[in-house]
Amino acid sequence: MKFLTVSTFVSSFIVSVTCRAVDLSSRQDSYPSNFKPNFDSAFNVTIQKPLSTVFPILGTNEGLGPHILLSSIASGFQALTKDTVAVSGNLEDAFVRTLAADSAGAGFPRQGFQYKETVKIIPGVKFLDIVVNLKGTFTWDENRKLSLYETTSDKSVTVRKVRRFEEVDGGAATLVSETITGQCPFLLQPITQKTARDAHKEQMNLYSTLFK
Ligand SMILES: *[C@@H]1O[C@H](CO)[C@@H](O)[C@H](O)[C@H]1NC(C)=O
Repeated sequence: MKFLTVSTFVSSFIVSVTCRAVDLSSRQDSYPSNFKPNFDSAFNVTIQKPLSTVFPILGTNEGLGPHILLSSIASGFQALTKDTVAVSGNLEDAFVRTLAADSAGAGFPRQGFQYKETVKIIPGVKFLDIVVNLKGTFTWDENRKLSLYETTSDKSVTVRKVRRFEEVDGGAATLVSETITGQCPFLLQPITQKTARDAHKEQMNLYSTLFK
């Protein structure tokens, strides 16, 4: 009886989340005008390698697939179009995912990509998993050693992640600091907030394995 109540609750939760997600994703992608973040995460790691080794892998398109796939909830990475975007001001303050490419190839390099994330509602109960298809861009500023990751998904989850790189230990190591801000449907907020912080920490703690 108890199990039935729980599973009825979970099923109606899933149904309402799915309906809402479908409803929202049928709308136009209004990023960034309707971007009102309701979850966040901030985390730092230090990698025992110089900036000249770390930045190409974590800061440009060179290591984009491998570092996204470090997350245990990520799968099916594919690189899409590579182009450039011209923005006035700093990259970290810009919203470039929905911007048109610069026709002359000026500005910051931008790599398009897609992949999937699987969010487990109840571990081990596979049919309840929420599979999210994400699409986004990764844009970087070679001079200021900074990159901007922006995604949207078919579950109406929009994410911005700013990644900064700093030399530490007299240049022997690199501090990588990241801040995530994101927006998701109201009903998905508790699970998205928790998953985002857990997955963010887990993924960043694995960054050093890319340099072994
Ligand atoms: C990460 O590092 C940056 C830059 O040094 C610092 O401003 C920030 O407070 C740190 N954040 C966390 C979560 O440790």
